[in-house]
Amino acid sequence: MSLNWIEISKDALIHNVNLIKEKAKGKRILAVVKSNAYGHGLIQVAHVLKDHVDAFVVGDFEEAMELYEHSKNAKIIISLPPLNEKELLETSKLDFHIFVGNLQYLNWLNSIKLDNPIKVHLEINTGMNRSGLSPEELLKALEIIYDSKTLRLQGLFSHYATLPENMKFAKIQAEKFKSIVEKIPQRENLLIHMENSSGILKLLLDFTNSVRPGISLYGLIADETKEDNFKPVLSLYSTIIDILKIRKGEGVSYDHLFIAKKDMFVATIPFGYGNGYMWNLKGKAEIIAKGKRVPVIGKICMNHIIFDASEVIDYIKIGDKVTLIGRDGQEQITVEELARKSGTINYEIVTKLSPKIKRIIV
Ligand SMILES: Cc1ncc(COP(=O)(O)O)c(C=O)c1O
Repeated sequence: MSLNWIEISKDALIHNVNLIKEKAKGKRILAVVKSNAYGHGLIQVAHVLKDHVDAFVVGDFEEAMELYEHSKNAKIIISLPPLNEKELLETSKLDFHIFVGNLQYLNWLNSIKLDNPIKVHLEINTGMNRSGLSPEELLKALEIIYDSKTLRLQGLFSHYATLPENMKFAKIQAEKFKSIVEKIPQRENLLIHMENSSGILKLLLDFTNSVRPGISLYGLIADETKEDNFKPVLSLYSTIIDILKIRKGEGVSYDHLFIAKKDMFVATIPFGYGNGYMWNLKGKAEIIAKGKRVPVIGKICMNHIIFDASEVIDYIKIGDKVTLIGRDGQEQITVEELARKSGTINYEIVTKLSPKIKRIIV
């Protein structure tokens, strides 16, 4: 029996992908499932989405292999460059696509002897400045690919740097990408993509034919223009493993950050920063026990969180489930709430969740 587990709502995932499809107006959906599907579980998410999307964008080669082992027919795009020949051999053999945003890397790819072609999506740097080719480099890259025996051009893409906050810069990026794309011969057969989730919602382009949604798939973004909104996909649960009575003046957890103001009950769950909970949520977070919000108290340990159980002491027992993210009765703890309280972004809250936690599709 797992003491901690994650539930992935199939209905919510499908609802979200359908909303994206509606918004994306028939463009191909390249579902971004890197970082273990934003912590939701690569295999579980791909299992639910496999008949609803056109391809999966994973992080590295290892993620591609993990997905391939479970889903032999999935179209897989690797977003981080495989850097050894054995990986490239497999990449070409298994027909994975790869993102390429660097000339030196492209030249190296071209130098490798392979029996099967490597299918590449060239990244154009329009202002993100973390990878990507300049317009001049793109011309060189195209020459290399057209002359190559092993490289095949499959797509062209760029990535927004400032959405949703700075639309003005995003529009400049989109214009740059458009003017470059329009000069590429035979682009009809290529996947042209730029829009991430915010791009799909805020700045759908007329010259791309594919989109790369991530956070919206997981229901962690709002579309202000719609009443029927994205639904959160992930719930996180743990189990009460200890209940203690403590006396007024006693401290709780490391360094006694919390001191009991009166006699009280505390309870412990086996989840902590070692499982992916943010350590700096100490003194700020709440969890839900028996439909009631209860405060997390004291410092968060590697595998323990302690909460004030005084209000629920008559209802709880060891073995009971508590909710760290998700809904229980009238109460709900969202990923956004935890992100706000720990001063980070929703992406970090979910991607930090340990891959060891069991993910169950419900
Ligand atoms: C290249 C690329 N495309 C698409 C996405 C998806 O972005 P979002 O989760 O904001 O939809 C990411 C996310 O990091 C990305 O790096």
